[in-house]
Amino acid sequence: MSAKILVTYSTKYGSTQGVAETIAKVLSEKYFVVDLLPSREVRSLEDYQAVILGAPIYAGSILSDSIKFINRFKDSLERTPSAIFILGPLDGSPQELRGVQMQVDANRKKKFSWYKPTTNKIFTGALDLSKLRFPDSLIKLYRSTPKNSLTSKDERDWKAINAWATSLPEILGLLKT
Ligand SMILES: Cc1cc2nc3c(=O)[nH]c(=O)nc-3n(C[C@H](O)[C@H](O)[C@H](O)COP(=O)(O)O)c2cc1C
Repeated sequence: MSAKILVTYSTKYGSTQGVAETIAKVLSEKYFVVDLLPSREVRSLEDYQAVILGAPIYAGSILSDSIKFINRFKDSLERTPSAIFILGPLDGSPQELRGVQMQVDANRKKKFSWYKPTTNKIFTGALDLSKLRFPDSLIKLYRSTPKNSLTSKDERDWKAINAWATSLPEILGLLKT
């Protein structure tokens, strides 16, 4: 029997969901049985041989639905191989990625220090200014400067996302049978 994998995500505006869908598709194509669910809808992890969790970062913090998910399923996550991916920076420079990794590490230390995923990854995200609801829409004001105004962009790196998804079965120790 093929291993059953959960790909679960939280999102405000859909870009993390898009990445989760791609990861789920890559794993399905490798003959795994994959469930794709928003984190707030997951009721149990008992059926899964591995869990892949995706979350965006807002104002330096992982979206709360994902933090709640991690703490709700503490017992299962401690014994199930898992991977976490974070969407955030709109600029993929090493400096920016390092800054976000530091934010994620600080989050983990403060809110779920017990959680040690098998692997973790930061991906560049997407921003559609026309979709933002208040107070997120204020980002247009505080992140724009007279010389450099914030614009909508989709920086999701599908090549890197596909490559990471392809590497997961081996990293998570999942064997096809
Ligand atoms: C109000 C606001 C705050 C944000 N704060 C951060 C941040 O602190 N660090 C970061 O790397 N990205 C930040 N981002 C970028 C988002 O993480 C990025 O747009 C992500 O792709 C959103 O995911 P979602 O569409 O699944 O909600 C912010 C975006 C908005 C709109």
